[in-house]
Amino acid sequence: MSTEGIQREADLSGLNTLRLPARAQRLARPATLDALEQLLAERPQDEPLQVIGGGSNLVIQSDLPGLTICLAIDGMAKVKEDDHHVWVAAGGGVHWDDLVAWTVEQGWQGLENLSLIPGTVGAAPFQNIGAYGVELSQVVEQVTVMEVASGKVLHFAASECDFAYRDSRFKSRDRGRYIITGLELRLNRTAACNVSYGPLQAHFGGQDPTAVTPAAVRDKVIEVRRSKLPDPAALANAGSFFKNPVVATDKAAQLRQTFPGLVAFDQAEGVKLAAGWLIEQAGWKGRRLGPVGMHSEQALVLVNHGGASSADVLALASAVRRDVWERFGVSLEQEPVLLP
Ligand code: EPU
Repeated sequence: MSTEGIQREADLSGLNTLRLPARAQRLARPATLDALEQLLAERPQDEPLQVIGGGSNLVIQSDLPGLTICLAIDGMAKVKEDDHHVWVAAGGGVHWDDLVAWTVEQGWQGLENLSLIPGTVGAAPFQNIGAYGVELSQVVEQVTVMEVASGKVLHFAASECDFAYRDSRFKSRDRGRYIITGLELRLNRTAACNVSYGPLQAHFGGQDPTAVTPAAVRDKVIEVRRSKLPDPAALANAGSFFKNPVVATDKAAQLRQTFPGLVAFDQAEGVKLAAGWLIEQAGWKGRRLGPVGMHSEQALVLVNHGGASSADVLALASAVRRDVWERFGVSLEQEPVLLP
């Protein structure tokens, strides 16, 4: 990418859904793998580098030094099929929900529970997006990346990505090493939809599971999300602000005794607690601290009512974390990525 394509001191307030004010020293939007490779080759090797997607899972703490890359690689297509499956590929810059909408329109099953999640295809494997009983990892065939140091394009099978709850090798051990440039998914032509999650079960429970279409599930997921989660375009937010904490079985048993209403789900290892419930019980649902607050319909979502700084966001997050710790002895881990 030629240096004319690079914006200097670029305003990032429209590129993060919490709408925090910040600038990027240099901002580039490469639209091809060649442009990305050239950009990496031309930058000084010691220059700080960040990659942002839709900015919907970020807390930008201050101006970003060095180069910020906002990937603009688009395109989505069917790459192969057999009697049961279709494989689709999408560029890292595609809006995630455009991909979901297109696959559901084709009648392919697999992504409908992940409808309306803000952000890009490239960001989706980074934090292994999940919702309504489905995680991205369940449908990934391979993740395509460019290695920052070499500009080489590599492909990782799903089993090589260390996918876990809101986590992957790209977010943990290989943070900063690769840029996710595309994704290949394996979807189903005929499989039954997954409607096991509470609100979906309540709606589709009585129906023959094989007759429930991906389109019907998508519609319902959109309805449920709209009723609980604020639209970032209307009320700035970064989705769930904390992960649902997993605690040891004996800790959960002890909490269940003291708090019979505890919302908890048994896992293979330990018990996952609903952080939204903990935060609500700690008195933070719908409560504000300065220009920020915890959402009135979903206490796990931190919202910017307007004009907030990253210091306001971090002050509220630490007050919530402290109160949940004092009441329950449970530590909450922040979900959105802190930059720089
Ligand atoms: N709850 C409360 N009060 C609240 C919020 C939740 O008591 O204010 C309790 C309720 O009992 C509710 C339960 O918590 O039934 C679970 O709530 P919800 O179904 O809204 O899901 P969540 O666990 O709070 C997770 C994801 C969301 C995803 C939903 C649906 C995380 C960190 N968050 O939230 O993902 O949409 O499940 O699957 O795992 C995101 O990651 O940004 C995100 C929005």
